[in-house]
Amino acid sequence: MEPHHFFAPCPRGLESILATELEKLGAFSVQIHDGGVKFQGNWYICYRTNLESRIASRILWQITKQPYIDEADIYKISHAFPWNEWFSPTLTIRVNVAAIKCPLRSLDFVTLRIKDAICDKFRELTNKRPSVNTVNPDIRIHGFLDAQEFTLYLDTSGDALFKRNLRKTIGEAPLRENLAAGILQLAGWEPGIPLLDPMCGSGTFLLEAVQMSLNISPGIRRSFAFEKFKKFDEALWSKLKRESVARQKTKIHQPIYGSDLYGDALADAHTNLSMAGFSDVVALKQGNILEISAPASTGILVANPPYGKRVGDQEELAEFYPKLGDALKKRFIGWNAYLFTGDTLLPKLIRLAASRRIPLFNAAIECRLLEYKIVGGGMRKIKKDGVAQRSDSTSTTSQNL
Ligand SMILES: C[S@@+](CC[C@H](N)C(=O)[O-])C[C@H]1O[C@@H](n2cnc3c(N)ncnc32)[C@H](O)[C@@H]1O
Repeated sequence: MEPHHFFAPCPRGLESILATELEKLGAFSVQIHDGGVKFQGNWYICYRTNLESRIASRILWQITKQPYIDEADIYKISHAFPWNEWFSPTLTIRVNVAAIKCPLRSLDFVTLRIKDAICDKFRELTNKRPSVNTVNPDIRIHGFLDAQEFTLYLDTSGDALFKRNLRKTIGEAPLRENLAAGILQLAGWEPGIPLLDPMCGSGTFLLEAVQMSLNISPGIRRSFAFEKFKKFDEALWSKLKRESVARQKTKIHQPIYGSDLYGDALADAHTNLSMAGFSDVVALKQGNILEISAPASTGILVANPPYGKRVGDQEELAEFYPKLGDALKKRFIGWNAYLFTGDTLLPKLIRLAASRRIPLFNAAIECRLLEYKIVGGGMRKIKKDGVAQRSDSTSTTSQNL
């Protein structure tokens, strides 16, 4: 049987780690695109990537990809498929359309033509048609148009995959779970390495890190659109879930650390971790990042500081960033710090040299993941002077400020 074609969108900047993850999960012909990854596989791979991908936002099954000229072509192409073989007209639908360099005037009209084509086809074949539910549909259909071609997808995920059904309460500016998981991977964090999020908010990094440590599939607590498809293979799906649960670990050998300045943010993190059953593997405490000390002699610090566009105020931040740099230099020697921010002031004012600046998008906001390797300056001083004399000064490994 011909393999199916899929597209997995993800936060921009995470495409290559998603490609590696999908290959590990058995996907083949994996190709990186802007904003996502194309791959091929069978339904087993589709179920498995939905269940286990920490980075994908959705898994879309490609129905067709064809050249088009106008809206009439969009209708004809969308009408040509046996929709009733895939799902029942008693289910609700929603159509989404995205486009790059599309010459057509109204994407709303394109959306309407796709919806009409599907409903007309259902009526011709079954005398019934699905109704539309834009808020909580059973089935999502996605259209993508570029200058010449129209691609039609059936969404196998349903709710976006970053919705793990784990976070019960969210703070002011929570990260999406797949972005947090991607940042941990870009930082080179692996279970066993001490991890601290000193600005943990609702605890997104902590929750992702615990799931990685305990080998918990991110989709194990939720349902998926493919469970509503007519050809859903329930036996295969149950087997996949059973195998995933059997691979889970019960213990973490290296605790994960989280803190936040504010008690209410910490209460959110605490609620989320304890509802997920993770409270005994994460050490949480209230504290100011400018004052806390490192919980281990080396490790990875990852944080998503408040920034002007969403939370916090520019003037306050301009005072805060140099103090943050000083605190890292003084108290986190031996650690690698990863700061995720959309604020261009942070790298300018922190007075540390970033060894990497990775562009990443938080929804539509262009951000950077900044890497700072905090090393002690004492050794450097001893070497330069040739005298065994300690110095308090510290620096980061790279000088390219
Ligand atoms: C953008 S939010 C982090 C959101 C978090 N990553 C999440 O997904 O929920 C920034 C957090 O930094 C905390 N914060 C602000 N100033 C702080 C400080 N000086 N020390 C520690 N935490 C601080 C805020 O309380 C807020 O929870």
